[in-house]
Amino acid sequence: MKEQNLQTEIHLNQITFFLNGKQITEDVPAGISTLDWLHAKKQMFGTKCSCNEGDCGACTVVIAYPFEGIITYRAINSCLYPAAKLHGKHLITIEGLGTPENLHPIQQTLLKYHSLQCGYCTPGFVMSLFALLAMNSHPDQETILAALEGNLCRCGTYNSILKAAQELSAKFSPSEIVPEWCRNTEQDLYSFNETDTMFFTKTDIPQQVNCYLFPKTMKQLFDFYAEHPDANFIAGGTDIMVQKNIDRKVFPVLIDITNLPELNRLYLRQDGLHIGSAVTYQQLYESGIVKTDYPVLHKLLAQIASQQIRNLGTLGGNIANASPVGDTLPLLLVLDASLWLQSDLEIRQIPLNDFFVSYRKTALNKGEIIKEIIIPPVKSNSYIKFTKTSKSKSVDISSVITAVKIEYNEDIIINAALALGGVSALPMLSQKFTELLTGKKLSTINIDSVISEVEKEFEPLTDIRGTALYRKKLIQNHILLYFQELQKEEK
Ligand SMILES: Cc1cc2nc3c(=O)[nH]c(=O)nc-3n(C[C@H](O)[C@H](O)[C@H](O)COP(=O)(O)OP(=O)(O)OC[C@H]3O[C@@H](n4cnc5c(N)ncnc54)[C@H](O)[C@@H]3O)c2cc1C
Ligand code: FES
Ligand code: FES
Repeated sequence: MKEQNLQTEIHLNQITFFLNGKQITEDVPAGISTLDWLHAKKQMFGTKCSCNEGDCGACTVVIAYPFEGIITYRAINSCLYPAAKLHGKHLITIEGLGTPENLHPIQQTLLKYHSLQCGYCTPGFVMSLFALLAMNSHPDQETILAALEGNLCRCGTYNSILKAAQELSAKFSPSEIVPEWCRNTEQDLYSFNETDTMFFTKTDIPQQVNCYLFPKTMKQLFDFYAEHPDANFIAGGTDIMVQKNIDRKVFPVLIDITNLPELNRLYLRQDGLHIGSAVTYQQLYESGIVKTDYPVLHKLLAQIASQQIRNLGTLGGNIANASPVGDTLPLLLVLDASLWLQSDLEIRQIPLNDFFVSYRKTALNKGEIIKEIIIPPVKSNSYIKFTKTSKSKSVDISSVITAVKIEYNEDIIINAALALGGVSALPMLSQKFTELLTGKKLSTINIDSVISEVEKEFEPLTDIRGTALYRKKLIQNHILLYFQELQKEEK
């Protein structure tokens, strides 16, 4: 696109998208969440608000957009989804699915199984089931449970919802689930993305977010940053939007990096798997390469947050956020991941282990972004595993998360790595573990002395996710678990 055209479009405050089958063009204040926009600007209150931070699923809506040659239907938390991102997509809300006189099959089936009491959570469950069944005609129980783990019901109607979901899975085809008005928009969604080139929203009245920018090229990204050095980057927004909604943090300018083709690539090279920093957890989870070549990563992805969050959140955001309990970090550390960082001046590669500097501080320079995450090929003679301990099995941040990698040459350990999250200010690799195991046979290793040496390397904190003592115990148990499995494998 020519710079001249950009200038004419740059002052537009409007986005164009489909809302329940109808194309609309609307003014959207920068940074407003889709939930707030539905309530405040459209007076559509069918989508509920409870937590406003991605935990309860009451605000679940579905977005449809082209991805890898098909129209994908994804359930998302509308409280965490900036409305600006809706441009060129189809937003489907509970109001679109059925009317009291003519309920959608999902609503009919939930009613048949008495799956609602107060009903506050119901729109969210309906929308999660809609996204699931639109993409997968006959999901099994495990898949149904995974799709619903981000929806809470304080009246406890889970069993009847599950029964209804099982019947929907057994009896209905996607053509009965996805209404005609949805299908009618699909062709337009393709041409939308092809013809549209640029989108920008701006408000002049100071508020939490004054300006939301969507660069389409890397050059534009760095030009925008040069113009707005106080800007923050936003990818899935599952961390940023929580800070905005709950901590009331002000982000004068947000630069959304999710439309940049360079950051959306996923490809295998000789040096390993390259993951663009805007690739979502769900896209990674569905990737055939990840399933076959990095099964341990595939398994980890399923344990992160909820389906709605996985549809938005990115590996790049998890790394840049640098939380000591970021779930992907220990595994990426033992897998020797590295990062490509890019600024307007240079591209540099840095081992992930050098990226974390101090509590939530990283080696990113001002205006620099994570472009790609590179995971070297996994050797066939290796044991790689992670263990996540959190208070709840789903949608919960870890108290402690560890990962281990042990590579053998015949029965000699030639490389050993243990990474720990949740026990210090940074996710960290244990040097002692590597020293004590490398060059040894498994049968000669004194496990107690490995545990006590590793323990000397960290001093965990006591916080809401566990006491220091509890965390130490967890680390002991994780290490014991790994050795028990290794010993079993050797027999
Ligand atoms: C309900 C809920 C449950 C969650 N559960 C988990 C969980 O189980 N495990 C877990 O680890 N996390 C969890 N999280 C946290 C969050 O989902 C992850 O950290 C996620 O990976 C963040 O990615 P994002 O793209 O949404 O980041 P964003 O919110 O877009 O950004 C996060 C930070 O990273 C920066 N950033 C993003 N991308 C880049 C880039 N390419 N280059 C430079 N800086 C960048 C942003 O400026 C920001 O500072 C949860 C969050 C919620 C709301
Ligand atoms: S309101 Fe709870 S997840 Fe959005
Ligand atoms: S029916 Fe009341 S919260 Fe679910």
